[in-house]
Amino acid sequence: MLVRLDKFLADQNFGTRKHVKKIIRNHTITIDDKLIKDPDFKFNPELQRVFIDGELIEYQSHIYILLNKPEGYICSTIDESYPSVLNLIDAQYQKRARLVGRLDVDTTGVLLITDNGKLNNKLIHPNSGLEKEYLVTYNRNLNDTDLQILSSKIDLYDDGIVQAKKVEQVSLNQAKITITEGKYHQIKRMAKRAYLEVIKLDRIRLANLTYGDLKQGEYRFLTEEEIENLKSLVKMEEE
Ligand code: URA
Repeated sequence: MLVRLDKFLADQNFGTRKHVKKIIRNHTITIDDKLIKDPDFKFNPELQRVFIDGELIEYQSHIYILLNKPEGYICSTIDESYPSVLNLIDAQYQKRARLVGRLDVDTTGVLLITDNGKLNNKLIHPNSGLEKEYLVTYNRNLNDTDLQILSSKIDLYDDGIVQAKKVEQVSLNQAKITITEGKYHQIKRMAKRAYLEVIKLDRIRLANLTYGDLKQGEYRFLTEEEIENLKSLVKMEEE
């Protein structure tokens, strides 16, 4: 994959685009022994080596992991009563990895993990409109009033007003609910408004990502196409 020199340096934590342009101007940067002064110069960092003032820049591409989270794992590193979801991924990625949003300890399903901080921030931004679809199992059968309440605007008080994008009953006591907001315990708090209790919660989709054949606890890396899709969702295609 070809990348621009200024983007490459920004991704390798040399600073903002503006700052790396200065570095390119003021330092000796060589790629394949050629002096490069053009920030737009495109090259393949997997195959070509970049030196700044004679020093090799170790290339680390971003990681994008989709984990099918099992129950009993927390989306943080500081609780000692439960293991962290990060324990489920290879040790070499754990230090760099950041979670894209959080799932409760008893929630299962799609969890995205990346070290691309910019994409992460954009995805979790309240205005991103990122769709999250859950298969929700309730403690009792659903009636029309419940479905109407779950589909209406719900005031979460300190967390504002939310409204499911889609509510679809799939069995007597189960519904698929798509939300875009992602407030703390949102699906469970919405259920409470209908005097329902969530007994099982599985995130089956995040944007266009599903866990497919992954068993709980298993993960895979996103494809280039999936990464580009996520970036275009948050208008990062040019990055
Ligand atoms: N809503 C919840 O209540 N819990 C989750 O883990 C995710 C959404």
